[in-house]
Amino acid sequence: MAQMEKILVAYTTNAGTTEEVAVVIGEELGKQGAQVDLRRLEEVADLAPYTAVVIGGPMIMGWHKAAVRFVKKHQQALSRVPVAYFLTAMSLTQTGETRIGAIPLCIDPVLAKAPKNANRLGLKERYATVTNYLRPVLRSAPQVKPVSIAVFGGKLEFYRLKLLQMLFVLVVIQAQPGDRRNWPVIREWAGGLRAQLALASASE
Ligand SMILES: Cc1cc2nc3c(=O)[nH]c(=O)nc-3n(C[C@H](O)[C@H](O)[C@H](O)COP(=O)(O)O)c2cc1C
Repeated sequence: MAQMEKILVAYTTNAGTTEEVAVVIGEELGKQGAQVDLRRLEEVADLAPYTAVVIGGPMIMGWHKAAVRFVKKHQQALSRVPVAYFLTAMSLTQTGETRIGAIPLCIDPVLAKAPKNANRLGLKERYATVTNYLRPVLRSAPQVKPVSIAVFGGKLEFYRLKLLQMLFVLVVIQAQPGDRRNWPVIREWAGGLRAQLALASASE
């Protein structure tokens, strides 16, 4: 008998932004008829009940450490089921990449910012490329091959930040405070996700 489809949407968040995005992704998957479990990463001990896993986290000087740790820790299990990642971010250099290796990317076009000179990226522009953001997680769990990776605009509120965080945000990522989430893009990605996960499952 075929295993019943059950999708885990697991996320980490510092200030709540990514949680709200995860809720909407779970909602969209649910609308497509999937059985969805929405959990914080820390609440997830066992991936065995799930037929697919969606993992989300914000960029906090790199993809959130908890997300990278989770993927690394569960890499064996995650290499056996279809997986997708999503990131929330406030700074992204537009590079025109649509894939990293074989992995399709969904990039919020409103978030991505054109570099001053596309042939010669500056230091901060290079830092904020999707390849640079994803390198650590892809290197630390190479057997995990997401069916899709999405980078969405996030939300930043300066009053929440400590001085060093504020300096990083202002100097390195040069982000302005505000809510840059683009719900139609988030919903569109989530709307096609169940089919993408199922397709990967069928080809395994
Ligand atoms: C300390 C700190 C570091 C951040 N680093 C980055 C970064 O490297 N690149 C980026 O695009 N956004 C960065 N951001 C912006 C966050 O990714 C964004 O605000 C996100 O939506 C926060 O999600 P959360 O509310 O789920 O924690 C940073 C924010 C903070 C507070």
